[in-house]
Amino acid sequence: MLKRFVGLLLMTSTLTTAGAALAQVSDPDARARAMVDAMTLDEQIGVLRTQAGFGLLSLGVPLPASIPESMRKATPPGALGSAGYVPAVERVGMPAQQMSDASLGVGNLGGFIRRGDEATSLPATLALAATFDPELARAAGDMLGAEAHAKGFNIQLAGGVNLTREPRNGRNFEYAGEDPLLAGQIVGAQVAGIQGRHVVSTVKHFALNAQETGRFVHDAQLDEAALRESDLLAFEIAIDRGRPGSVMCAYNRINGDYACESQFLLGKVLKGDWQYPGWVMSDWGASHSLAPALKAGLDQESPQDGPYFDGLKAAVERGEVSPERVRDAAYRIVRSFHAVGVIDDPAKPGGAIDKDAHAEVAERVALSGMVLLKNDGVLPLAATARKILVIGGFADKGVLSGGGSSQVMPYGGHFTDRRGRDGIAAILAPVYGLSSPLAALKALRPDADIQFDDGGDPARAAALAKGADVAIVFATRPEEEGMDAIAPDLPYGQDALIAAVGAANPRTVVVLETGNPILMPWLSKVGAVLQAWYPGQRGGPAIAKVLTGEVSPSGRLPMTFPAGVAQLPRPAIPGFDPNNRKPLGLGAKVAPFAVPFPEGADVGYRWFERRKAKPLFAFGHGLTYTTFGYSKLAAKGGEGVSATFTLTNTGPREGTEVAQLYVAPPGRTHRLAGWARVTLKPGESRQVTIVADPRLLASYDVKAGAWRRAGGSYDLYVGKAAGSRDLVAKASLTEGGR
Ligand code: BGC
Repeated sequence: MLKRFVGLLLMTSTLTTAGAALAQVSDPDARARAMVDAMTLDEQIGVLRTQAGFGLLSLGVPLPASIPESMRKATPPGALGSAGYVPAVERVGMPAQQMSDASLGVGNLGGFIRRGDEATSLPATLALAATFDPELARAAGDMLGAEAHAKGFNIQLAGGVNLTREPRNGRNFEYAGEDPLLAGQIVGAQVAGIQGRHVVSTVKHFALNAQETGRFVHDAQLDEAALRESDLLAFEIAIDRGRPGSVMCAYNRINGDYACESQFLLGKVLKGDWQYPGWVMSDWGASHSLAPALKAGLDQESPQDGPYFDGLKAAVERGEVSPERVRDAAYRIVRSFHAVGVIDDPAKPGGAIDKDAHAEVAERVALSGMVLLKNDGVLPLAATARKILVIGGFADKGVLSGGGSSQVMPYGGHFTDRRGRDGIAAILAPVYGLSSPLAALKALRPDADIQFDDGGDPARAAALAKGADVAIVFATRPEEEGMDAIAPDLPYGQDALIAAVGAANPRTVVVLETGNPILMPWLSKVGAVLQAWYPGQRGGPAIAKVLTGEVSPSGRLPMTFPAGVAQLPRPAIPGFDPNNRKPLGLGAKVAPFAVPFPEGADVGYRWFERRKAKPLFAFGHGLTYTTFGYSKLAAKGGEGVSATFTLTNTGPREGTEVAQLYVAPPGRTHRLAGWARVTLKPGESRQVTIVADPRLLASYDVKAGAWRRAGGSYDLYVGKAAGSRDLVAKASLTEGGR
């Protein structure tokens, strides 16, 4: 009835009337059905084929040979100049799909596509994960959604939730660390924030895209139970919390099949077991077929491959693909547009952006996500520290960001570090936002004599440090999409610089701007280490506030920092060739190879527990300017597991603790099952209860095709980090399955 009514309207009225009539139907499913049924087959196919939203030919400059043929086009009319564009189906009121990257802000790779278009640059998603604060993640998403909307984008390619299995992976800064519960909660909350602004968000890259090396060809091999309990669990939690309109399938193969044509991933798990109602889009160049991909569950083909979907109409006519499958794929896109509110509140370029409020969100994330790894008392900077030497890391100019498709060109300007770069690599060189920690520190400490040395000569820097009350070395390590790091160390001789300065003055603070763990051969020589990740738009002031103690650090590590690569499940990155590293992986031709995961579901800290290995810094670790005591644990079993304990601020300042509950089902390693982020005044105590997320108590039984909770005794501990075991108890679960 409804269908006939809308169909009639569409035939006899203008677009505006039809759109208004559709808007009166409140149910997104019914509205989407009506809209899709009003589309012709050609129109339905049209919404399934994304083209590049920018054309390099429009730049009018000679293009390097490494640029693929598919990118040698002009910007399509109507496209805003971004990652992806699908024309509108105006007749039925379906707007154009304007897709922008990514999780850290409204991207503008290289800054040369939409010249001069800047955006608020959030800290790395790792920093967001380090906050252990889903509410803040939601605020970050809200900010990002608002900005995307105001710039005319209605799809944000955000929601990177691949677990850190490889701490040299060049894209870890875009993801939320190694733990499925933490990553799922943080990314899910961010997605919900984006979508609250009527912009569809993705989650990506589904799944097991754990390394960039050979990302277009490698075969990630992991058994089903382990997969369900780790990487898929992160997606499941993120989808549950964020309800993203779309899932982006990954480049890699998984157990032999390309992720974008994996019947297991897309058909069985995502659309079957999880009953996911949104659409699956391929990563840019990740689709490899037409009928098999559609059959497995791919709904939309992205640019840079094929284009296989060009043959879709002919395939329907030949009977290889059913018209129902095409309709279903189009329906899923249209449904997400309705469900997220894209149709009722269309994004248009030129909207107002409250840049100050947005910068403030970025600063809050930076402040809450910085992790104080070591402190022998040199921080916060004492009032008596009058002679301060700041060294290196371009701290006089700004702060580093991660590279690749997620690159945001920050408000306030930037500069690129072109050291060792030419051709396309120079265009994509590391970007520093002009938010100077040195200037911010000077503003907060007008009483101090603060000098800067660029760190180019370790001996000179060390000599100057000798005469200073405190030396602060800024160390930066660019990371980027498409390539993994050669080793977990600092480039450009910065390890030697820190060692020299630390030897000259033990009151040396190291501020790390990295997107991954690094080894710290100089650790015993320095007084403090502050992990600032890529701290975003307001990184400079945020770092200065933490150094001076205006704000106490409260971040906790979302990934284990290993003491050496020998501790890792894969001491060498499979397929890695140090001589074949290209920005975005462009032109890096490699033969297919397997990536085995001996750690199974025991990712990160669980692998360290299994191997009884001692990391450099554990998952969950982070200091602040006060201390906390734990006491009076009461553990409860029964239907679920919970822990109640008393937390006391035993130090001299207000501070924030992230108390963590780890639970081990019988015979398994401990898993983070919940946490509480608690701020207490000096001397204040609070009773805290953490209820274990039931998803972390279960294990996947492949034979039964179901999650099972083993009955029996669950070992649990509450504490400051994985393995810290401040309070230990056992709780018995009475039930044996769910
Ligand atoms: C990346 C995606 C990104 C897409 C569009 C791909 O290379 O892997 O994360 O969303 O490009 O820019």
